[in-house]
Amino acid sequence: DLVEQIKRLEELFTVPTEKLKEITNHFMGELEKGLQKDGSTVPMNPTWCMGFPTGYETGTYLALDMGGTNLRVCEINLPEEKGEFDIIQSKYRMPEELKTATAEELWGYIADCLQQFVEYHHEGEELEEMPLGFTFSYPATQDYVDHGVLQRWTKGFDIDGVEGHDVVPPFMAALEERGVPIVLAALVNDTTGTLIASAYTDTDVKIGCIFGTGCNAAYMEECGKIPKLAHMNLPPDLPMAINCEWGAFDNEHKVLPRTPYDVIIDKESPRPGQQAFEKMIAGLYLGEIFRLVLLDLHDTGHIFEGQDMSKLKKPYSLDSSFLSAIEEDPFENLQETADMFQNKLSIVPTRPECELTRRLSELIGTRAARLSSCGVAAICKHKKWDTCHVGADGSVFNKYTHFKARGAQALREILDWPKSKRGQPDPIEILPAEDGSGVGAALIAALTLKRVEEGN
Ligand code: BG6
Ligand code: GLC
Repeated sequence: DLVEQIKRLEELFTVPTEKLKEITNHFMGELEKGLQKDGSTVPMNPTWCMGFPTGYETGTYLALDMGGTNLRVCEINLPEEKGEFDIIQSKYRMPEELKTATAEELWGYIADCLQQFVEYHHEGEELEEMPLGFTFSYPATQDYVDHGVLQRWTKGFDIDGVEGHDVVPPFMAALEERGVPIVLAALVNDTTGTLIASAYTDTDVKIGCIFGTGCNAAYMEECGKIPKLAHMNLPPDLPMAINCEWGAFDNEHKVLPRTPYDVIIDKESPRPGQQAFEKMIAGLYLGEIFRLVLLDLHDTGHIFEGQDMSKLKKPYSLDSSFLSAIEEDPFENLQETADMFQNKLSIVPTRPECELTRRLSELIGTRAARLSSCGVAAICKHKKWDTCHVGADGSVFNKYTHFKARGAQALREILDWPKSKRGQPDPIEILPAEDGSGVGAALIAALTLKRVEEGN
């Protein structure tokens, strides 16, 4: 019976090469629509980050990184040496309650963290205003690099009164209230930060990707190829980073192979109908998909008979590290898996049940990696590149077993590129972006201030 259930799940969650190619082709069209018109499904947000660093940027900058799980404050020093940087940083927890707090509480909390950092590292110093790069990892409409109107909250955030408004003034007001001496040089998306930081150390990198709580990418486009900015008469060859916000891909449900579990996730989320792509692949949702499948199998009498389901019934009680840990457990004994179910969920699984959860984790993790590759491939095809070097960051990329290898494999299938021959450089590289957002935000701050100085 369980063998049959596994087969059913395999059919539901496996995405074959042909389907990946179909998704990629649709994706390319959507990226192009986003460049043409404001308000497209995939928004392709201009970031006003104009071009790559030279590697010779210098100065000291603060970076504030408001990601999905952590808040980081960094001070980055870019010395004279090419491509080098020093960084000191403090991590603060992003309390879960903050996701649904008031706007004032949100900005107050962030400003408090920044104040603490500055006071701790510069105690007793007479401080001049320090330039700050603020990595705000949500979709924002930007007419300048140091402003951003939040288009919509993603990743489970749901704070009233922020969507549709410029996020910079209330943030700056919270800092001023606390007397923190800062000038905001740039508001940056985490993907743009990752792109710039990765290109700083490896000039072949052309795409910055986040595979974390959310999933998204940025790449450099020539202004002449962004029809929605044509009225601004920007130099056609001038490069500008585009934050794709590809999490919104296929909100119309035209190509993605959604399962009934994906439909539930969407319906029960604070923003139904949005982030269709992200909800199938990002870290915030992988554990939840897994939980919903297990509950369904229990309700239909296939697993965990007679066991207490109360813990498994709690929404979002499992995160993607649970799946990753199951995948890491040696298949021969799956003891760790059994222990995790017992300790975390008070469920004692049988051996066949452990095997089913193992296969299910593989299926969900593999689907995520393969689908996310469609976005990367779509950018490569849109740009007609013959190499694909990606700088990547985020908890899923860094911690989920096999994610990177599965993504690279899918990219090869979609692009029909063979594996590199011995001694030849690989056309597909997915590299971890070290301190991506912090360094990226600092570099973008440096580039922006330089442009201002030069009067551009
Ligand atoms: C961090 C980056 O490493 O990864 C953040 O510094 C980014 O900018 C984050 O938002 C994404 O991962 P997660 O898993 O925290 O969403
Ligand atoms: C969500 C956000 C996007 C961010 C991504 C990764 O998709 O909308 O701005 O880049 O998560 O953190």
